[in-house]
Parts: sequence; C-alpha cells; structure tokens
Amino acid sequence: MYSIVLSCILGFLILESQHGVQSWSLNNFLMTGPKAYLTFSQSVAAGAMHGMEECRHQFLWDRWNCPESSLPMFTQNALERANRETSFVHAISSAGVMYTLTRNCSLGDFDKCGCDDTKKGDQGGEGWKWGGCSDNVNFGERVSKMFVDALVTGKDAWAVMNLHNNEAGRKAVRQTLKRTCKCHGVSGSCTTQTCWKQLSEFRVIGDFLKRKYGNGLLVDYVRGGLEKANSASEQALSPLSKKDLVYLEASPDYCRVNVSAGSMGTVGRECVRGTKKSKDEQGKWEKQSCKRLCSTCGLKVKKTKVIEKSSCNCKFHWCCSVKCDECQQEVTKLTCQT
Ligand SMILES: *[C@@H]1O[C@H](CO)[C@@H](O)[C@H](O)[C@H]1NC(C)=O
Ligand SMILES: *[C@@H]1O[C@H](CO)[C@@H](O)[C@H](O)[C@H]1NC(C)=O
Repeated sequence: MYSIVLSCILGFLILESQHGVQSWSLNNFLMTGPKAYLTFSQSVAAGAMHGMEECRHQFLWDRWNCPESSLPMFTQNALERANRETSFVHAISSAGVMYTLTRNCSLGDFDKCGCDDTKKGDQGGEGWKWGGCSDNVNFGERVSKMFVDALVTGKDAWAVMNLHNNEAGRKAVRQTLKRTCKCHGVSGSCTTQTCWKQLSEFRVIGDFLKRKYGNGLLVDYVRGGLEKANSASEQALSPLSKKDLVYLEASPDYCRVNVSAGSMGTVGRECVRGTKKSKDEQGKWEKQSCKRLCSTCGLKVKKTKVIEKSSCNCKFHWCCSVKCDECQQEVTKLTCQT
C-alpha cells in the first residue's frame, strides 16, 4: 500500500522535474532520502506559509489583504512597518510555525520527539485521567521560538514589538488548545474517560488572532520596553499582556497606494454582491465587500464580463495521471475602478 503511494509520488515528481518544476525538491528527496529530508526547517517553512495562507483568508475582504510583500521572511527589517497589520503578520506566522512543528512532532516526523506524556496517568478531574497522545506544544514552542525570533535582529522598538507579537502568536496556539476524551467502561458506558490536549484547527487560531488584531494596542517604546500609549486612561494603567497584539504606528489609508507604507490601494480589487453566506464574520464582510473596498474608498464598482477557463470532466487514470477537458464560462466580475 505505502510503496504504491510512494512510487506514485516519486513518479509524479519525476514527471514534474522534466518540465523544470520542483526539480530542487526532487533532487533533495532522492539524494538524502525521506528520513533526512524531514528536518525542522521544512516544518518551519511550511508553518510560515500556512500562517500566511490563513492571513490571506482572514483578510480576504479587507482593504489590506495580506499581500505577499508583508511576509516577515521576505521583508528587510528596515522596510517593515510597525502597524496593526504588521502585528498580525508576525503573530500568525509565528503561530503557524509552532503549530506545524507541534503537529509534526505528534505525527512522529522527528527523532526524539513525540507526544507529551508528562501528565499521563494523573487524575485530571472528576471521572477522567490524562492519557492518549497530548500534542507536544512545549516542543513546538521551544523550537519555533528558536527559528522565528532569530529573524528579529537588533534591540530597538521594532525588534521589541515583533518579539512581543511573535510571542502572542505562540500564546494563541496554547490558548486555543482543546481537550479531547475517550470513553471507557462496559459497552461505552463512559464511567471513566482518558483525555489529552490537542491543537485546534488552524482556522480557530486564525479567527482568535483576528479578534486580537481588532483589539490590538498602540504602544510606546520606553526605556527598552513597551508601554500602552495615552497612559492617561484607566485601562492603560494595567500592565501589557503578553497575549495582546501591539503596534507602534497608525496604519496608512489602505484605500490609496502608498508603497512605502505597505498599502497597495483598492483599485482593481474584486468584490461580490448577493452572496448567501452571512452566518460567520467572513460572510458578513463578504456581503459588504463592494461598499468596503470600492464605495467608501471613493471608487466605482465596475462590471466586466470575462471568459473563465477551467478544468472540467476530469478523469483519473491509474496510476498516476489526471486528464481533464478545458471548459469556458462567461462570468460577471465586479471590481473597484476610478
Ligand atoms: C510537517 O508538516 C508540513 C505541513 O503540514 C509538511 O509540509 C511537512 O512535510 C511535515 N513534515 C516535516 C518533517 O517537515
Ligand atoms: C504614505 O504613508 C506614510 C506613513 O503612513 C505617510 O506619512 C505619507 O504621507 C503617505 N504618503 C502619501 C503620498 O499618502
């Protein structure tokens, strides 16, 4: 079973490499073998990308929509802003790295790393004990901190802010951990249970951090540390929490292009009308997207008919290719225009 799957994958990679794509990963795979290929850095890269995908999902209908240029790994420190959006990018990519490392550890991808069984056998509460495979968040936290925080150099306001937000991202992974249990007893009577702590879906962490972003705090850099700005107010007197997202400067006007401030403007952005989804937060913003991205930015909503090509009638041929037809469809697109 596994060897079929593996040779399918290898066959696929060889096919790909003939067209010049993926040749690096193919060579790496063949030369070092699967075991050596599985290193922390693979997970770190995958985790950071996972974080950025989630960022794009969370900001799909926002004026700032998490452009590629905002990925911390692709930005030169001096060019990076220190606003509310920067705080989100750091938190979500740091959370992504911790998440992937933790998950991979549980999956047995690394030597010397497995489930967290420090509490195994201990009574957890009324009628349940710790057992099963708890996700090893301590491992994920430690290793991700090593990789991600190392990208922040210097000791200035910018560095202190980013380290704070990286930490807030890791805290979010911990705060969203859930307890999963299994019943024991005669024919599932559930007289006793064993429970373990498990990572939530990454979407849950994305939603959680989006709310943190909404409640982000403007801070000042004072004597090597951060303090809430406008310290006159009552709330500002309470100490800064490590769980909060913090930023040092106001966001630019994302309606307009301002490259140095990290704004691409909303001209050309697509919006939608009359969607049925509106139950969740995303749906709410999607429904208001034309207003939010175009009208309130002083732009018009322009309708264009475009021919969209897509794959259809796909058939799977054993083993391993997929053959599809190309179908054309006329669709109406709405975009923001001057
Ligand atoms: C870890 O997880 C990511 C994504 O979930 C995956 O791409 C990667 O191959 C996994 N394993 C290792 C050892 O990196
Ligand atoms: C671009 O953004 C910066 C920082 O927010 C601001 O100071 C500057 O005035 C903006 N430039 C334009 C042309 O709007």
